[in-house]
Amino acid sequence: MAVTWSTQTLANESYVEYSLWNEELTLRENATISKFIDGSSAHRVLYMYRAILKNLTMNTVYIYHVGSLNGWSGIYSFRTIPNEKRKLFAVYGDLGVVNAQSLARLQKEAQLDYYDAILHVGDFAYDMDSDQSRVGDQFMNQIQEIAAYVPYMVCPGNHERIYNFSNYKSRFTMPSNGDGENLWYSYNFGLAHIISFSTEVYFWWEYGFAQISNQYRWLEQDLKWATASENRTKYPWIITMGHQPMYCSNANQDDCTFYDSRPRSGLPYIHTYGLEKMFYDYGVDLELWAHEHSYERNHNESKPDIAL
Ligand SMILES: [Fe+2]
Repeated sequence: MAVTWSTQTLANESYVEYSLWNEELTLRENATISKFIDGSSAHRVLYMYRAILKNLTMNTVYIYHVGSLNGWSGIYSFRTIPNEKRKLFAVYGDLGVVNAQSLARLQKEAQLDYYDAILHVGDFAYDMDSDQSRVGDQFMNQIQEIAAYVPYMVCPGNHERIYNFSNYKSRFTMPSNGDGENLWYSYNFGLAHIISFSTEVYFWWEYGFAQISNQYRWLEQDLKWATASENRTKYPWIITMGHQPMYCSNANQDDCTFYDSRPRSGLPYIHTYGLEKMFYDYGVDLELWAHEHSYERNHNESKPDIAL
């Protein structure tokens, strides 16, 4: 379990203290510290702390707090994933600081242990970099009352792109088996192999054109692993999440309204690195998207027995 937090002044030797429920926080994991410098001219500084709690027991409630000798957070709790194969997720994208109509319900239900994980499919805060990244602070404080209790899994959206996704990369800690900066990664959860990737590599080439091919090659390798027979038997559901959809029926001239949407068919004109064929060939079962601020679902005609 990864725990991530931030402070405005440096607190050396910070850590997570934790224990089983009703015990006395006797376990400790040191945090790694990194300096975040906001990309605006004010160069506001935050310090980011990450600690990975290891050797946890499944389906067990732990309590923890984070901090240092300079001060401690309140005490929070989380439950490690249960042994049962059924898992419950809350899935959404495009959640802002203003008009966050779902926030109260999500906070309450996360605290009441309704979910095994949250999947936030890109676009945070609107925007995290605003006001020298203070809007990012405000957003993280809002979702703290969710993410302190339940794994909060993310992928990048177009609203994270400023300063090369630096707020997004710095404020979350996702599995490190992809690019190592939260842009693409995968993990197994219950019966599912879940892949998070960046549709943004298709749109913001100023941050490195090579990211498109790097991610594409990684996705293919990851899907090869997931479809090896012993893995597919163990994790029969392959689920992807990316922010900008391959398809939509909105009339707003966004990328997904075009026949050749970039995540679907690849780069304009040359049509390389498109994901539709790869996801089809490897039998991806469910693709989760956001960005359009509307609800749509599409039936997979290649698998008529699956209703989405
Ligand atoms: Fe978006």
